[in-house]
Amino acid sequence: MPVIAFAPDAGVWLLSTPRTSYALRIDATGAPCHLGWGPALTLEEAGELVTPPGPPASSFEGRPSVGEELPVDGGPRYGPPSLQVRFADGTRAFEWQATGHRVHEPAPGSTELVLEFRDRVHPLRVALHYRVHDDSDVIERWTVLRNDGVAPVALQRADSAAWALPLRDGYRLSHVTGQWSAETRLRRDPLPFGETVLTSRRGITSHHANPWVMLDAGDASENHGQVWSAALAWSGSWRITVQRTPDGRAGFTGGAGHEGPALPLGPGEEHTTPVHAGLYSEGGFGAASRAWHAYTLAHVLPHPREIRPVLYNSWEATGFDVDEAGQRALAARAAALGVELYVMDDGWFGARRSAEAGLGDWSPAPDRFPGGLTPLVEEVHRLGMRFGLWVEPEMVSPDSDLYRTHPDWVLHFPHRTRTELRSQLVLNLARRDVADWAYGWLTRLVGDHGIDFLKWDMNRAFSEAGWPDRAEGADAVWTAYVQHLYGIIDRLRAEHPGLRIETCSGGGGRVDLGMLARTDQAWPSDNTDAADRIDIQHGYGQLYPARTMAAWVTDVPNQFTGRSVPLRFRFHVAMAGVLGIGGDLSRWSEDELAEGAALLAEYKRIRHLVQHGGLHRLRAPDDEGAAAVQYTAADRGEALLLVWRRTSRPGDPAPLLRPAGLDPAARYRDARTGAVHSATVLREYGIRPELPRGDWASAAVHLVRMP
Ligand code: GLA
Repeated sequence: MPVIAFAPDAGVWLLSTPRTSYALRIDATGAPCHLGWGPALTLEEAGELVTPPGPPASSFEGRPSVGEELPVDGGPRYGPPSLQVRFADGTRAFEWQATGHRVHEPAPGSTELVLEFRDRVHPLRVALHYRVHDDSDVIERWTVLRNDGVAPVALQRADSAAWALPLRDGYRLSHVTGQWSAETRLRRDPLPFGETVLTSRRGITSHHANPWVMLDAGDASENHGQVWSAALAWSGSWRITVQRTPDGRAGFTGGAGHEGPALPLGPGEEHTTPVHAGLYSEGGFGAASRAWHAYTLAHVLPHPREIRPVLYNSWEATGFDVDEAGQRALAARAAALGVELYVMDDGWFGARRSAEAGLGDWSPAPDRFPGGLTPLVEEVHRLGMRFGLWVEPEMVSPDSDLYRTHPDWVLHFPHRTRTELRSQLVLNLARRDVADWAYGWLTRLVGDHGIDFLKWDMNRAFSEAGWPDRAEGADAVWTAYVQHLYGIIDRLRAEHPGLRIETCSGGGGRVDLGMLARTDQAWPSDNTDAADRIDIQHGYGQLYPARTMAAWVTDVPNQFTGRSVPLRFRFHVAMAGVLGIGGDLSRWSEDELAEGAALLAEYKRIRHLVQHGGLHRLRAPDDEGAAAVQYTAADRGEALLLVWRRTSRPGDPAPLLRPAGLDPAARYRDARTGAVHSATVLREYGIRPELPRGDWASAAVHLVRMP
């Protein structure tokens, strides 16, 4: 059966992914309606989902608020609209009229359905896009709106897609909440009746919520059960509204932007929403996460097959106190440890001696780098490492030459306070001249110095997000800012194909599939305490793959929490992602350097499993005792177990781990001890990795299939 099939008699469209089906139809009013999303169906079976509408239950009900592909503000609809338009004559109601459809293959292995509509009277066109891939159950959806008229239209809400679940007796919502230094805390609660809004109004994805949801019927576990999930590929403000209706349906609508601003769509203009990708999976939350990881590697990341290098970052070691001699000394120690990418953090430019000044003046501070950056870059390259640099291109310090020259370049309203956060203001990237300026210095900086890697930071939320010199600027800015941000990064990457980028926003404030489509890894949190990091990584990995999850080993007592845990424990936690070193190597003892070098070398032996293998969460960190993860090679030839026990209790043995996803007929050898285990015994009876006594005990077990 083709992956996109149509039954003209029933008017049913069926999208098939390798293991799932998604069915919809256009109803008698012309509205695109949802039929089903779940296990694979035939076209005929999907036709059975069409039920003739019954008589309205009362004059108060209207159309169900869950069950349309893009519920509009218009007609008897009372749920949260996915599409809410205001026409120039004041009309708000949108009336669907189908105008056609297209099926095409945008790339080998991918098929796209476009359903085309317009408003019955006004010249506004709406196209619903659905894309499926032959190697993933993720369905990508987005909407394209086009104003064919001569009058402007305001898009008060323009979600990418709405999603509906089959009827179940109950529902549960999984998502992450957080704050700076405590990002991606997993929450899993019964879905309340009514509307649950997950959102960011900060202009960035935010530390406080992340634009993905997972829903289940309350019966899914890590390894069993049906899960419906979706993630939004957008890096500015966003909103996902999850509903549980009084009659027991569940669904959600999601898109860019928060309430308030209305996106202006001028005559002849077209707006393409970000992708909202959805996934139905069986096999519990573990299978859902693995499917998202595989999708992100296959269809989102720019260079998914690359092994990310071990980096050193100087931030926790030096703070703003950077200079060439200090950096050379750290680089020499980092290289000796086995580091492959040396990143100089904040403090290298302009008058930057603290967070109080300098952002915007992006030339090396002459007193700290008398010969510019080139001597340091050359030294790092000579040591056999790549060179990376911290930048924060979207910001300006009021105390900077840039701000003194261009005070109008920041987001602001006339006669309003320009609120400073971290003593900085946000540049209005939505302005073409500002975006061109940012691209200009970045491409020169990268090109002139042979820079291999940028840590792209963004250290404050928006406020007073005005754009006074443009009509409706305060409405347009939220979208145009992100589009220009994407444009700058895309141009930079095209101009410098060897350049790699880390997305950072005071830690994990801007991690999403939109950013990951144009960066190589993310900094999940400024909190580098290994104990806290276990929880942060647990939430991060629900959706995003370890291949993108930078994780540093830093010094103790930890700068944020004051907690001290052994070096080995810090390494073992960071080895669950893209390992980096962030400690002050000038203060590491010979013993620490030797132990660090050995652990780093061990990471290099197993990182292909972490970065490209399948993740099995063997014990969640909320379990009493220990947490553990497993990464398994796609061919099941090897697996890595990482186990972390924060607190030991008397009589509490090392946790029993039951490795998953191994080749059932094979025997595996523990690469360190030489012990041989059959997969069946491992799976059914488990093993207890050897843990040191006491708190903060950890182990890494590398299992290799016997020939
Ligand atoms: C942010 C980042 C940190 C560091 C500082 C530098 O907080 O998240 O890692 O780069 O900025 O000012």
